[in-house]
Amino acid sequence: MKIVVTGGLGFIGSHTVVELQNEGFEVVIIDNLSNSTEGVLDGIVAVTGKKPLFEKLDLRDKAAVQDFFKKYKDVSGVIHFAASKAVGESVENPLLYYENNITTLIYLLQELQQKPEASFIFSSSCTVYGQAEKMPITEDAPVQQPISPYGNTKKIGEEIIRDTAKATNIRAILLRYFNPIGSHPSAEIGELPIGVPQNLVPFITQTGIGLRKELSVYGDDYPTNDGTCVRDYIHVVDLAKAHVVALQRLLDKKNLEKVETFNLGTGKGSSVLEVITSFEKASDTKLPYKIVARREGDITEAYANTAKANDVLGWKAQSTLDEAMKSAWKWEQKIRSKVS
Ligand code: WQD
Repeated sequence: MKIVVTGGLGFIGSHTVVELQNEGFEVVIIDNLSNSTEGVLDGIVAVTGKKPLFEKLDLRDKAAVQDFFKKYKDVSGVIHFAASKAVGESVENPLLYYENNITTLIYLLQELQQKPEASFIFSSSCTVYGQAEKMPITEDAPVQQPISPYGNTKKIGEEIIRDTAKATNIRAILLRYFNPIGSHPSAEIGELPIGVPQNLVPFITQTGIGLRKELSVYGDDYPTNDGTCVRDYIHVVDLAKAHVVALQRLLDKKNLEKVETFNLGTGKGSSVLEVITSFEKASDTKLPYKIVARREGDITEAYANTAKANDVLGWKAQSTLDEAMKSAWKWEQKIRSKVS
């Protein structure tokens, strides 16, 4: 039986492929290489010694998606990462996000609903909570109208999956990620942001390696301990392992409802300044940064209540912020040594 990983050459996708292979699953990666490279396959092989099947395919091409499922009839589950994910870009180009993130989901589900049974894991995001009232955030916190079209595609995606699962034989788990960071300890795979990183940690490591002059901290006048925003930074390997646990739950039909939702975080909030301090410890360097104006659309704080993931899913994040930052720095040094 095969497991399809869409976006499997991306940051979280590639780490999940490694963990699936470690558990003995046969993986077929679908990726259109819009935000990744085929070289990531070598990194996966370097870690596991096994080369996953790979199909270069744009999920917006309905006929190509249909042909894929005609070719691979023994697919028992799909983990769907492939999507555009830059908040700022989604505000400038909403239709790109609605087309790429929603149409592709529909084409995948249309194929899966033809199977006698199918397991579907959806890459969602804590962004659907907007600024939640209560910390830590539980899965039953109200889903608010997300601030960005990117966040809205995650909210709409969840709704499409809920309605489809009710009417078909698809069983699904929605995984709401907090802030994925770090890299595989082998430094064979990691985050490869294209252009100027929008996210905090890759910008920090690129500043630390000298690629960026200094980090701009977007505001220190928030109502938090040190005035900077608080997030729940989760090691990407912990996140990847959660996908394997969630998939196994569906394959074993242990799910309690047709669609289950889990927050994936560490349960601990860290401020931007705390992340900088963690990086300085990891790299034994001083990070150049300046405080600038707030970034449009940023929320003050978000960190997960992990009780449901711990007790029902049977998964718990293992790595600390410091361990994740160390892995992020090791990866940055490795890829820059390749470039120079
Ligand atoms: C974290 C904190 C910034 C960059 C987004 C998406 C989420 C997920 C992860 C895709 C914030 C501050 C950042 C910088 C800074 N996306 N920051 N200087 O915005 O919490 O979440 O990315 O999977 O769905 O919403 O993550 O890393 O961009 O920002 O001060 O150069 O770091 O203000 O407080 P965010 P982020």
